[in-house]
Amino acid sequence: MPNSSSRRAILRLGVAAGLVTPAALYAQHDHGQPAPAAGRGQNPGADHDHDHGSTTAAAEPEYTGSRKLAPLSTLPSGQPLPPLPKLANTSKERGKFAAALTAAPHSVEWVKGQPTQTWAYNGSLPGPLIDVTEGDRIDIRFNNKLAEESTIHWHGVPTPADQDGNPPDVVAAGKERHYGYLLPAGSSGTHWYHPHPHERTGAQVLRGLAGAFIVRPQNDPLAHLPEQNLFISDLRLADDGNIPPNTRMDWMNGREGQFVLINGAYQPRIAVGGTQRWRIWNACSARYLRLSLGGLPFTLAGTDGGLLAAPVDGLTELLLTPAQRVEIIVHPPQDGAARNVELQALPYNRGGMGPATRPQPPRVLATVNFAARGKRLAVPQQLRSIEPLGQPTAYHRVLMTELMDMDTMRATPGGPYSKFRGLYFLLNGQRYDMKRIDINAEVNAVEQWEVTNLSSMGMDHPFHVHGDPFQVIEREFEGKRTPEPLLAWRDTVNIRAGETVRFKMVQKHVGLRMFHCHILEHEDLGMMGNLMVKA
Ligand code: C2O
Ligand code: CU
Ligand code: CU
Repeated sequence: MPNSSSRRAILRLGVAAGLVTPAALYAQHDHGQPAPAAGRGQNPGADHDHDHGSTTAAAEPEYTGSRKLAPLSTLPSGQPLPPLPKLANTSKERGKFAAALTAAPHSVEWVKGQPTQTWAYNGSLPGPLIDVTEGDRIDIRFNNKLAEESTIHWHGVPTPADQDGNPPDVVAAGKERHYGYLLPAGSSGTHWYHPHPHERTGAQVLRGLAGAFIVRPQNDPLAHLPEQNLFISDLRLADDGNIPPNTRMDWMNGREGQFVLINGAYQPRIAVGGTQRWRIWNACSARYLRLSLGGLPFTLAGTDGGLLAAPVDGLTELLLTPAQRVEIIVHPPQDGAARNVELQALPYNRGGMGPATRPQPPRVLATVNFAARGKRLAVPQQLRSIEPLGQPTAYHRVLMTELMDMDTMRATPGGPYSKFRGLYFLLNGQRYDMKRIDINAEVNAVEQWEVTNLSSMGMDHPFHVHGDPFQVIEREFEGKRTPEPLLAWRDTVNIRAGETVRFKMVQKHVGLRMFHCHILEHEDLGMMGNLMVKA
């Protein structure tokens, strides 16, 4: 990680260049004033400051509720980790998975007498777990009972492009559609699903729309291990039960809440009687999770796109950015003694501005109860084979920057959730435009991407590409190139401020894909591009 002095240096540069005035970011929304039309700055993003034909972008009503946070005692802690409810298969046919997912408002009484309006899939927070196997045929009917358009994006699942819930393929309020696709060989992994409508992904995910999607390999070398799913999400709850909309600081840094939930539960208890296989999802909008198990060593067995070639033993922490997933193996302690340890998120400086980015104390996510004399199960030393992708036939370059146009910001007193003007997150100097193709790729070809984070605020960005996964090959920071030690399938990779990451990938379907920062506020403010995969 860049040390704090280099982060400060990057920040000073941004301020000196007139791009950043920290004080302006602290302003909360002013109520009751209509947002004036945005001024046109001379920055490269401003020419795209129109509506992109979106009908729901301005639909967010003025927020009149409380912004004061509900105290941590609002949610009960210490309860057994609830399992993720499974989405039931309604098909009798072998190899077919059919089900329905309905996105709808869902009321939960967290604050007594003041129910919270969440948005949920099938009334479940998080959404129900889809648990399927490579080779299965998926047929899901999506029913959109929200008051605005939505999609379901199958994050990490290599679906055909027209089944992937892209922003242009929205399902209007009150309408439904089918998503149908075959899970090809090699699609196993710890995936997930969430909405992806233009400029509204963050707004829909933070209210509860996200769920887990496990694709199992045909032959699973870890099938003998008991499993535990940890789907981690973030919740900001006001003392009146409202989920308040974003502040300017949220738009800048990405939104974090006072609660981190696992399978919807606050600081649950996880019982470990013997060796277990844990799948962990970071489904937070912006929160980085530097996970530790009270210093106990654990084994890394898989990443976003499934198992590693061989397990990596002896880790005591790992960094999971928003949208990343891992599989780890947790063994009972060697001495056979019962003990309770804390699953923690250790402090991690991901840059940005303001008090929210100051080093935080470690945060307890769960308590893990190891039983006495827990049974240790053997883990094979070979999990699968991963072939390194070969010589690239094309190269793509992406630069990540952000820009603040102070004149526009000052002229915009607040405005609805999706219209924070004057703040731009850019890829190759441009905001996302649904109609513009940013990168052309060839189907089934090895192509190398080079993504550089030039954040003037010293901010990390987790970079994600839709479709097929990639292999990170190298990182470059302060002139030093480091080959990636781990050969693994990923679809999201952290890029530190000032860092360049190179990865190779093969897209196996033709059609339109997105690539973007998976801090959802950055994505919604434009840090996304279109990839067209051609035959
Ligand atoms: Cu979780 Cu565009 O992705
Ligand atoms: Cu995705
Ligand atoms: Cu970002």
